[in-house]
Amino acid sequence: MTDSLLLITEDNGVRTIRINRPDKLNALNAATIDALDAAFSDAEADDSVRVVVLTGSGPKAFVAGADISEMNTLTPVQGRDFSLRGTRMMRGVEKLTKPVIAMVNGFALGGGLELAMCCHLRIAADSAKVGQPEINLGLIPGFGGTQRLLRLAGRAATLELCLTGAPITAERALQLGIVNRVVPAAELEAETMKLAGQLANAAPLALRGMLDCVNIGGECGMEEGLEYESVQFGLVFSTEDMREGTSAFLEKRKPAFNGR
Ligand code: COA
Repeated sequence: MTDSLLLITEDNGVRTIRINRPDKLNALNAATIDALDAAFSDAEADDSVRVVVLTGSGPKAFVAGADISEMNTLTPVQGRDFSLRGTRMMRGVEKLTKPVIAMVNGFALGGGLELAMCCHLRIAADSAKVGQPEINLGLIPGFGGTQRLLRLAGRAATLELCLTGAPITAERALQLGIVNRVVPAAELEAETMKLAGQLANAAPLALRGMLDCVNIGGECGMEEGLEYESVQFGLVFSTEDMREGTSAFLEKRKPAFNGR
């Protein structure tokens, strides 16, 4: 499946969505945001997809931000709509019922870091740079940057990145908890696919239960979060995969999960 703005491939349950505007460092214009929205809806609906990997085309960038040339002339109402468009798409990624891995192959700036942060896991090339440079444009983050960075890395890191606008290295992003892993650029694809393959073979309904717990629990009080986890824990006892996983352990064999 291929169209001009996104390159989409699939291998053994791993769907890779590659933003394809390398000449503009994969900047997010409205059409690309809409294409991503549709691509993630497709991935959600397709039972053959177990994991999604999101990345950018070309050697330089994951995504270098929202498209500045498109934003330049927006009115306040259009600006709000542009923000809502991106935020809605990214909330959809965050709430996907299958794991989404951001393969951060270069610059992840502004909307690019915001897009990476709504994914469930982030693996970065050691050459990648991430940041929220909106201040340099007289702007503020508008696709959830202040909120997700705050939750991922805390107030100090959020205020440092947003107020200064200075990009940081992948290694520093790792120290701050913004990315999960940093690998040599030449090994990024192989390492990401190894992780994606591992998740593609895991029990899908258990993965979904954990994604739900973290999404819901991250937004409510401890009591409600614990209650919600208990309900989700009970729910996995209805799955064939739970019987298979526990039986395989007891029978000293590898489990084969079928997503039921
Ligand atoms: N929106 C629109 N176009 C962008 C863009 C963005 N966010 N980021 C890069 N581009 C375009 C450039 O305008 C340029 O297009 P052109 O060849 O038609 O002039 C092309 O992508 C290549 O970028 P360039 O700036 O020449 O590459 P570089 O290697 O010199 O610099 C960056 C790379 C990432 C440091 C620089 O492109 C940059 O600062 N981008 C903006 C980052 C930003 O502020 N993002 C937040 C937006 S809210």
